[in-house]
Amino acid sequence: MKKRIFSGAQPTGELHIGNYLGALKNWVALQDDYEAFYCIVNLHAITLPQDPATLRQKTLDLARVYLAAGVDPSRSTIFIQSDVAAHAELTWVLSCIARMGELERMTQFKDKSSKGSSERAGVGLFTYPVLMAADILLYQADLVPVGQDQKQHLELSRDLAVRFNRDFGETFKVPDPYIPKAGASIKSLQDPTKKMSKSDENPKASIFLTDDADTIAKKIKSAVTDSGTDIKFDESRPAINNLLTIYQLVTGKSAEECEANFEGKMYGQFKGELAEATIEFMRPFQERIKQFDDETVKEILRTGADSARSIANATLRDVYQKTGIS
Ligand code: AMP
Ligand code: TRP
Repeated sequence: MKKRIFSGAQPTGELHIGNYLGALKNWVALQDDYEAFYCIVNLHAITLPQDPATLRQKTLDLARVYLAAGVDPSRSTIFIQSDVAAHAELTWVLSCIARMGELERMTQFKDKSSKGSSERAGVGLFTYPVLMAADILLYQADLVPVGQDQKQHLELSRDLAVRFNRDFGETFKVPDPYIPKAGASIKSLQDPTKKMSKSDENPKASIFLTDDADTIAKKIKSAVTDSGTDIKFDESRPAINNLLTIYQLVTGKSAEECEANFEGKMYGQFKGELAEATIEFMRPFQERIKQFDDETVKEILRTGADSARSIANATLRDVYQKTGIS
């Protein structure tokens, strides 16, 4: 029996190369060795205000991104979170064993709610990590491939699994995170101390998956650099570190090969080569994404939801049985 993986992304904003290199690329690689479930987490999306028509469209668009990136629906299950009601149901049960204190410590909640005050933050934004735990635990996932920013949420999922198992008997597999060594946190091109983020207001900070060659080249050209001229990995120079990491991941070269390639070269030349490599890397994805029409995507999502549902419902039945809710 193959081990299982589960991961998901929110159908909000525009996906960027950080999502691709930190998450999607690994999803595609892992489906060879694992039974994979890749979810479009639309219930997570509404923890912040969304326009309904846009959300519906982005949900389909995100499925297309998964497919174009190489997630193969004949091997992996692609589905929409809200199509499997068990996600919302298990969230309720888990929120009864989660503690206010542990949710208050979640840094993403603090970041997202501090834009208003927590007085006005939605309760759903607060319990967001419990829904994420339900996503994962329903499928008895062994491994969860995510970027660095989700590490804390994953620890909560593990804690909730352990707590439930202790209180009600062995029920959930305790999932391990899979956070890639390179690319787990791709930084903003304009401020390499911040992660590249869907919610960044400056479009020059991110390379979007839909950017054309010209736009990619311009954004890389205008990326900030640090002082010093060597093109080398160096913890104390976050800008060059970030750009070299992108170069390493889009070319598939080792860190040493990347540094050797640019020894004695100037920033101008480096940025030119980085732009070219990034454009080449994105090209097959950008061609494939046009191939999936809405009907094909909807059919894949229907089939995906059917197989996800049967696994999720079996776990939920077990949970209800053990907690006396049947
Ligand atoms: P989201 O789009 O926020 O739902 O995130 C989807 C996936 O992309 C998650 O696994 C994130 O951890 C990952 N991710 C988001 N931003 C970055 C980034 N800047 N670098 C690497 N991975 C990221
Ligand atoms: N919270 C994740 C993010 O914003 C998305 C997500 C929801 C997820 N449920 C998940 C990721 C389960 C992995 C597993 O990136």
